[in-house]
Amino acid sequence: MKIAVFYWTVFLDILHSSTIARPSLLQHCTSENQLVKCQQKMPDFVDHTAIAFQLTGVKIKTFDLGKVVQAFPNVRNVSITDGNIVTLIPPKKLNSIKVLELRRLLLTNISKDFVRHFQNIEVLDLRENRLEQFPIEFFLGSVKELRLSNNSWNCSEDLGWILAIDKQVAVDIDELKCMGLPYPGKPLISIAQYVKELHDTCTTGCECSLSKVVQDLMTDELEPMITINCSYRGFTELPSNLPNNTRTLHLEGNSIASLEPLHSNPVYHSLWDLYLDDNDVTNIDELEGSFWLKHFREFSLKGNKLTKIPAYALDNALLKNPNMPKAVRLYLGGNPWRCDCVFIPVFQELVLQKYATQIRDIRDVKCSYVEGDENSLMPIIDLSRSSVCRLPPEYSLQEGLDLLNGILASLIVFILGKLAYDYYHFKKTGRLPWIVTKMP
Ligand SMILES: *[C@@H]1O[C@H](CO)[C@@H](O)[C@H](O)[C@H]1NC(C)=O
Ligand SMILES: *[C@@H]1O[C@H](CO)[C@@H](O)[C@H](O)[C@H]1NC(C)=O
Ligand SMILES: *[C@@H]1O[C@H](CO)[C@@H](O)[C@H](O)[C@H]1NC(C)=O
Ligand SMILES: *[C@@H]1O[C@H](CO)[C@@H](O)[C@H](O)[C@H]1NC(C)=O
Ligand SMILES: *[C@@H]1O[C@H](CO)[C@@H](O)[C@H](O)[C@H]1NC(C)=O
Ligand SMILES: *[C@@H]1O[C@H](CO)[C@@H](O)[C@H](O)[C@H]1NC(C)=O
Repeated sequence: MKIAVFYWTVFLDILHSSTIARPSLLQHCTSENQLVKCQQKMPDFVDHTAIAFQLTGVKIKTFDLGKVVQAFPNVRNVSITDGNIVTLIPPKKLNSIKVLELRRLLLTNISKDFVRHFQNIEVLDLRENRLEQFPIEFFLGSVKELRLSNNSWNCSEDLGWILAIDKQVAVDIDELKCMGLPYPGKPLISIAQYVKELHDTCTTGCECSLSKVVQDLMTDELEPMITINCSYRGFTELPSNLPNNTRTLHLEGNSIASLEPLHSNPVYHSLWDLYLDDNDVTNIDELEGSFWLKHFREFSLKGNKLTKIPAYALDNALLKNPNMPKAVRLYLGGNPWRCDCVFIPVFQELVLQKYATQIRDIRDVKCSYVEGDENSLMPIIDLSRSSVCRLPPEYSLQEGLDLLNGILASLIVFILGKLAYDYYHFKKTGRLPWIVTKMP
């Protein structure tokens, strides 16, 4: 029992001494050849001879660089790394700092005037922090080398700074990558260039955005994907100009009637998705044989004025469309489809039934409103052939027969009259009727 208690106390002692020993070791500063290295905390002495200072493992969130200048008034190289510092307070006093390395900290923000507090600075290294954005008008002062890679750059923010900054100074500018959506891992400088170009070439009156950038796995080349919103902006025709690489075009709620430019204007060749809901499109005949029909992904014609479409041409194009079957979506609802025996059977068979998975609003594809017609506003997919191609109703057949009877009766009266006249004429003059003389 006594032995057990002895070992227990020894164990506790060891535990105790080890927990005390660690922080005292970490707080330790070493000094050698004018270089002072500290861990976790600033030293509580002043050293006028030190020209280099390294501090690692600082746990506090806000760190005052003024304290470094206070402890080492002649310091030139300052390196603060591997800590939890989120915010830095720049020194207020004049200082000799030439090289300032602030790496592997948690810095989220740097003020545009940060460098103004370092009259002699030449190297500023901010790699491996959590910087999300950079001030547009960052003051570079005497900085000759600025490093910014491996931060958390948010590419939804204004990236104008990267195009404006001196590339001789910002030496690792090509290595900066976007963090998170919408362009995860893409080079900041390319994104900034795409955004600028898009801003300069955007269709007048519309809103343009770089929705995505994809990287070709084979060539490593980047391909921007542009989305344009021209909805509810009073367009009466399809825009004649689109920025390069436009993939998605929103034109909902305009007054567009003709789709001819979709066929004839090559700017539409890069387009994948077109939304034309609630316009005035009456037909898509002009798209017969077009590149568009053979290559589109999404095509929405909801709420237009279509009464019929060229079913054979659409079927033909869809058979050739490389996006079939999974990526193609077609919307045809809310149009005044004409439910007659000529159009409907072909439309049903070659389009609605064959492409039922691609036509996403198939139950909204309905006959137009016709008063007294039993098919009025019925989903076309449900119509039976006999209900579309039925015989004319009883009363009209009767009317037709009545008309035919009337014509026949008048013909009989005419022929009998003519016969009577000819007979009387022959009796009187002895001459045969003209028609008989001509007979062989
Ligand atoms: C100070 O930093 C510069 C540049 O990083 C380096 O070349 C130099 O050796 C450093 N001096 C000291 C004393 O650490
Ligand atoms: C970054 O710092 C600037 C200036 O100190 C300040 O105006 C801005 O709000 C800060 N931004 C963030 C995200 O903290
Ligand atoms: C920066 O990040 C890249 C990948 O994101 C990584 O390969 C590289 O080693 C990192 N550089 C540093 C200095 O941590
Ligand atoms: C990037 O910035 C945008 C706009 O300021 C913001 O909505 C978004 O949440 C930010 N993204 C990240 C990953 O912080
Ligand atoms: C396009 O812009 C209109 C009007 O500004 C807006 O109501 C609509 O939500 C936008 N559409 C998209 C897809 O962003
Ligand atoms: C857009 O593409 C065309 C044809 O590929 C090219 O001539 C033109 O320079 C491009 N425009 C821009 C702004 O890149």
